[in-house]
Amino acid sequence: MLNFDFHNPTRIAFGKGRIADLAKLVPAAAKVLILVGGASAEKTGTLAEVRAALGERQHATFSGIEPNPSYETSMKAVAQIRESGFDFLLAVGGGSVIDATKFIAAAVRFEGADPWAILEKHGRNIQGAMPFGSVLTLPATGSEMNNGGVITHRAKGAKLSFGSVHTYPVFSVLDPTKTYTLPPQQLANGVVDAFVHTVEQYLTYPVNAPVQDRFAEGILQTLIEVGPRLLTAQEPVYDDRANLMWAATMALNGLIGAGVPQDWATHMIGHELTALHGIDHARTLAIVLPALLNERRVAKRAKLLQYGERVWGITTGTDDERITAAIERTRDFFESMGIATRLSGYGLGGDTVTAVVAQLEAHGMVTLGEQREITPAVSRRILEAAL
Ligand code: NZQ
Ligand code: ZN
Repeated sequence: MLNFDFHNPTRIAFGKGRIADLAKLVPAAAKVLILVGGASAEKTGTLAEVRAALGERQHATFSGIEPNPSYETSMKAVAQIRESGFDFLLAVGGGSVIDATKFIAAAVRFEGADPWAILEKHGRNIQGAMPFGSVLTLPATGSEMNNGGVITHRAKGAKLSFGSVHTYPVFSVLDPTKTYTLPPQQLANGVVDAFVHTVEQYLTYPVNAPVQDRFAEGILQTLIEVGPRLLTAQEPVYDDRANLMWAATMALNGLIGAGVPQDWATHMIGHELTALHGIDHARTLAIVLPALLNERRVAKRAKLLQYGERVWGITTGTDDERITAAIERTRDFFESMGIATRLSGYGLGGDTVTAVVAQLEAHGMVTLGEQREITPAVSRRILEAAL
């Protein structure tokens, strides 16, 4: 096992009816800015519930944070906070709203000329951030219990990630009933995003870390079990929603990634696809991952065999046949969730390959993967195999 530090300060309030706990979780004297996305938080009644739980506290609402949140919109919130003197932020939404809130919390305290520099340095220059909590409405990203965020600069056409010890939520409320209003494609996105987060920390090379491996395999098996049921159920099933929610949180809160090598090439290539074509985050991962696993089948050989056997029950055939079967089962799983796994499924062709590789180079993403071996030429082969 590799050396590691593990410290996750985010308090989780999990279960039905827990939004009422905001009354205790948010400091009593706080002046609160609630941040939401489009119309969903209002329409579903979650925003009204949040406001009621805040009681007598002074509060206002900033709305309009887009999916794949933008720097431009985030900076409007920064101006409002500076003008009106809020001292606590409360994100109500999915990964996009929580990520934007993290960036806003850091940008308000940022002393440089332009907070975009936070993204250019991937958060290494964050000196502090406002305190913030979240109410999660879409299980997928793990943003509710990690310190990372991804922000898009629309004018520059760049989608970059950041992270800092200062950008963990103080608390997150996870009420599985809040997922009941999600459309099927967002549920599918959540399953696939959490699945790929787990794979990016598990499917690398062995370092004799059986606790992390078996946690990861447990998350993958849970997603495989629950995922299809989420799409076919006539009515939402509380336990399935709860298990999806906790699986997605556990997939990216630092636990399974502690002490093991990590990949993240699928995410970095996927972010460029979203920046260029606006494809949902999880869908970009479903396009890249099967092709990447095949391209890296030698470097990832031992873990691919372990994955095939323990997650998919593949125990017969030569090593190569077993690896091929494991990759195919992964692709079939994404497809069974209604998510296309090839660029052609999104109307994209060879031009996109060239454009994505150019963007990876422009953003310094030239030695990706756990072995730092995914150069632009390798990324090109992966994307060509995903056509
Ligand atoms: O904008 P509103 O109206 O709220 O609608 C949203 C949005 O259109 C809707 N929605 C959310 N909760 C709902 C709901 N609709 C009905 N009922 C509810 N309960 O869902 C749509 C998508 O929301 P979004 O927040 O964009 O989705 P997601 O949670 O998948 O977040 C994606 C973003 O997170 C980043 C991605 O790159 C992307 O920008 N990621 C963040 C990570 C992190 N912080 O650790 C890691 C991930 O790998 C990922 O990169
Ligand atoms: Zn992701």
